[in-house]
Amino acid sequence: MRIPVIAGNWKMNKTVVESIALVKELKDFIREIKGVDIVVCSPFTSLWVVKEIINGTSIHLGAQNMYWETKGAFTGEISPLMLKDVGCEYVILGHSERREHFKETSEEVVKKTKAAFSFNLIPIVCIGENFEERESGKTKSIIEQEVKALFLEIDSTLAGRIIIAYEPIWAIGTGKSANSQEANLINKFIRELFSSEYGNKVAEQIRILYGGSVNPKNIEELMNESDIDGALVGGASLYALTFSQIVKAAEIL
Ligand code: PGA
Repeated sequence: MRIPVIAGNWKMNKTVVESIALVKELKDFIREIKGVDIVVCSPFTSLWVVKEIINGTSIHLGAQNMYWETKGAFTGEISPLMLKDVGCEYVILGHSERREHFKETSEEVVKKTKAAFSFNLIPIVCIGENFEERESGKTKSIIEQEVKALFLEIDSTLAGRIIIAYEPIWAIGTGKSANSQEANLINKFIRELFSSEYGNKVAEQIRILYGGSVNPKNIEELMNESDIDGALVGGASLYALTFSQIVKAAEIL
């Protein structure tokens, strides 16, 4: 049985004061919820204060990005050591906004994934096709390329701990979520790729999320699918009520 993960990606939103208010409210809403790994990925500037508030609750801390080196002359970057130091357990890597606006490559995402593992951070690696790729029938080959890049560097002892977030780029922030059956087919395909590389045991262990316009209305349908193990939530994670409703829908009772 895979424990579902609901991760909130706040993106470049929330000042420190706003982060405190959001996470305090969230803490109250999710008090009774069990059987789901809840992760909040705040901006770097709020990580510390969010950690202080979620201590002792079932909410885990995540970051939205990091660099692969541990320390040194890399102005403006944040290292896995620093994330660990501030209490992060998870880190989102290779989000499509980073790939698009900051030209992050699959090779860089793989380096970051390796570095995350070496600091015992759980990487949430994002993959997905854009609208043109989807329209031209390239979804599976894009997914395959991105997943296989990870296989080159991640050995079987670590592979089972990775979290993959399948996020069709055309569904992110658009209000147009993928149809749950279609999303499930892609998640299944990702699991098959893991199975042929690392065997069935690892493939059954990894959690594969869906991301892209997830909200309290579509989460139930998504969670009913066999290979969707949770969600990476952007816009709806900025409100304690909607995020907690999504978490509740993912709860294993
Ligand atoms: P969205 O974002 O839920 O606002 O579509 C998802 C994401 O970018 O991870």
